[in-house]
Amino acid sequence: MHMPPDVIAASQETAKQSRILEKRLDLEPSDSLFEQVAWLYAFCRERIFRDDTERIVAALWPNRRPVPGTTLIELGCGPGFYSRKLARRFPEISTTGVDRSESQLRWARQRAGNEGLSNCLFQQVNALMIPYDSSSFDVLIASRLFTVIADTERAITEMHRVLRPGGRCFVAEPRYRFWASLPLFGMWLLASTTHSHNGYREPRKATVYSGNEFANLFASQPWNQVKIWRDGRYQYALCQKA
Ligand SMILES: C[S@@+](CC[C@H](N)C(=O)[O-])C[C@H]1O[C@@H](n2cnc3c(N)ncnc32)[C@H](O)[C@@H]1O
Repeated sequence: MHMPPDVIAASQETAKQSRILEKRLDLEPSDSLFEQVAWLYAFCRERIFRDDTERIVAALWPNRRPVPGTTLIELGCGPGFYSRKLARRFPEISTTGVDRSESQLRWARQRAGNEGLSNCLFQQVNALMIPYDSSSFDVLIASRLFTVIADTERAITEMHRVLRPGGRCFVAEPRYRFWASLPLFGMWLLASTTHSHNGYREPRKATVYSGNEFANLFASQPWNQVKIWRDGRYQYALCQKA
């Protein structure tokens, strides 16, 4: 079959881009700080970071009650803080926490087991290639994910894809690089004294977006509504899929 040169060039470019992406995504799990010093991150998440549960509930469900049967996915869930809290508070919904780090997921599963949660599951998933069908979830949460993820634009494309029409996502990100980088720095320090490793996937400093950059991240997708706001050291987005 004869293909015009511009079509051949475009398909070669696409193949090249996917090879690059696959290579990037194929990193060994042990390259991750979240894998090596999982407990330190879980400690920070549970004891130090801001707990946004009430903000999440108020933003997603203004009458403070999700519709029974609501399906929620938490991307880059780490130790599953929000997936577990929301599953415990609303037994009528089901939550799925996904993360690349098996150590974080092990922590999350163990805690969920101890808490006797049966409406909460955790799976190893790359947020840049989510293995779920389009329109699979009613609600999506991503907290502090953009500080470390390799390709934010692709993550947002995936977030949009897996939400059902009318579904909503809540994103929480820190605003100040210094504060956002402290846990990463602590993890680097601990990992480099306790493991003989040449380097880690995560940057030494967290990626933090200015107000405009944060708002612009969401412009790549045809959301029906986007609301952006700031509160102290954090910025938030609530987006609804058309
Ligand atoms: C800074 S932690 C945030 C954890 C949690 N959401 C919170 O609120 O603290 C970022 C998490 O994203 C995960 N992560 C990074 N890149 C990822 C990817 N491509 N796919 C899935 N998870 C990823 C890391 O393993 C880590 O658990």
